[in-house]
Amino acid sequence: MINLGVNIDHIATIRQARGTDYPDPVAAVAICLAAGAGSITAHLREDRRHIQDHDIERLAAIEGLHLNMEMGATDEMVAICERLKPAACCLVPEKREELTTEGGLDVVAHQTRLADVVARLTASGVRVSMFIDPIETQIRASHAIGAPVIELHTGHYANMTGAEQAAELGMLRRGAQLAGELGLMVHAGHGLTIANTPAICAIPEIVELNIGHAIVADAIFKGLAQSVRDFKAVMRR
Ligand code: PXP
Repeated sequence: MINLGVNIDHIATIRQARGTDYPDPVAAVAICLAAGAGSITAHLREDRRHIQDHDIERLAAIEGLHLNMEMGATDEMVAICERLKPAACCLVPEKREELTTEGGLDVVAHQTRLADVVARLTASGVRVSMFIDPIETQIRASHAIGAPVIELHTGHYANMTGAEQAAELGMLRRGAQLAGELGLMVHAGHGLTIANTPAICAIPEIVELNIGHAIVADAIFKGLAQSVRDFKAVMRR
């Protein structure tokens, strides 16, 4: 069974939009785990646009939680990760102007720096993954610098349709196969929805999916009627 890591960033996005203390992304952990998630993913961004330092601190303090901390490979983030020692860390590209992570990490171009980050985090007991496009050179470079895991970027696949999407799916399949042959553990994520996830699950090497936006988006409509009923109930009282 493929592990589902739920990315809770967008619960924090709703909170930050109003500057309230709700909804608390940390309160989502128990709900996600009870529903079958195996891990929780949270991305501490340089600009703190959704997850805050106090969120990641509280997540890291939850006993037994498999926390996957997503982060750019900056000195600040590496120091936080070394201190909090989450079970896992996914290194992603980080640019202030990005809406979300666009494109995989260029491991080939930043091999020396990333090798140092992987070594430091591994020494702290953190399992490191590299968020990369399904490109042979990037997969081989991730292996060469000692990362035990890659997370294949499914964002392009998710944005495509028809023959173009089928071709990208082929790239993901071949990438996963190569990674498996190299002994890398293979994860995937970004842009996955109920509709486009099954084809990704059929790739045999993939052992974990990290999904956030579509889960939180679906939760709105799956929970909206109850929320309205609850307000009507207090208004009647
Ligand atoms: N994996 C990585 C490395 C990501 O950067 C993201 C987005 O934060 C996800 C998975 C989850 O993507 P989505 O929110 O589109 O499901």
